[in-house]
Amino acid sequence: MNQELNPRIVGASPAGARDRDSASAAVREMFTSIAPRYDLLNHVLSFNIDRLWWRRTARSFDAILKRPNVRVLDLCCGTGDMTFALSRRANSAAPQIPPQILGADFSHAMLQRAAAKGKGTTLRPPQWIEADALQLPFPDGYFHLVTSAFGFRNLADYDAGLREIARVLAPGGECGILDFGEPGGLIGQCYRVYFKKVLPAIGTVLSGVRGPYAYLPASVERFPSPDEMLGRMHQSGFRELSWTPYTFGVAGLYRGVKNA
Ligand SMILES: C[S@@+](CC[C@H](N)C(=O)[O-])C[C@H]1O[C@@H](n2cnc3c(N)ncnc32)[C@H](O)[C@@H]1O
Repeated sequence: MNQELNPRIVGASPAGARDRDSASAAVREMFTSIAPRYDLLNHVLSFNIDRLWWRRTARSFDAILKRPNVRVLDLCCGTGDMTFALSRRANSAAPQIPPQILGADFSHAMLQRAAAKGKGTTLRPPQWIEADALQLPFPDGYFHLVTSAFGFRNLADYDAGLREIARVLAPGGECGILDFGEPGGLIGQCYRVYFKKVLPAIGTVLSGVRGPYAYLPASVERFPSPDEMLGRMHQSGFRELSWTPYTFGVAGLYRGVKNA
């Protein structure tokens, strides 16, 4: 596990990963292997609540999406549901010059699905770009908003990911990271049974691939707590930090504004 090799790097560590590069490669391979069934599995396993989370996140950035001529990046966009939610929100706000919305992911198979879903869906459809979130092909300060839904947790180095988000954001630009959490109390106990036992079993049967749905609960367990994550965002150059739990903390939205 990469933490054993370099205790200062904190990030996703799928089975067999030895370092940051092999962890990234394993994550890409894993998502590519489940791309054909990713949407179906997402909706089944989350009882469709994922749609509400994407919409709620997009809505929370209305103030930016209404501004003319803004540039938005949805990182680790997968098959594009968060990107489409932002796009729909932006189009409904109807600014004079609609935002340029880009979805980026390093799995070609996921992007192909996103592109296919996007045909004819919105006034100004998102654009898709194959890119690694740890090495983005954009100039400093290019975007006004960067989001990531359920993707950030899979980065092989969270601090490097946050620094890269900060780099491509304009001063005063905003970052929104939607990801899973670990609810407490009785709800948390029930949820853990579902998430650690039921979900991996159903996911494995429906996808026909074992690894990814065992990796999912393990990756959530490894992910920093909200306090730690907000501390890491602070260290990476963000202020006005917040974490808003969604659905009892099963998921939650981290927000921050890039220091001027
Ligand atoms: C769980 S999916 C989330 C997809 C989508 N955002 C959603 O909400 O359904 C995680 C995605 O992150 C992508 N990903 C993980 N690490 C990445 C990296 N370093 N660079 C780009 N994409 C990455 C994977 O390829 C995968 O498509």
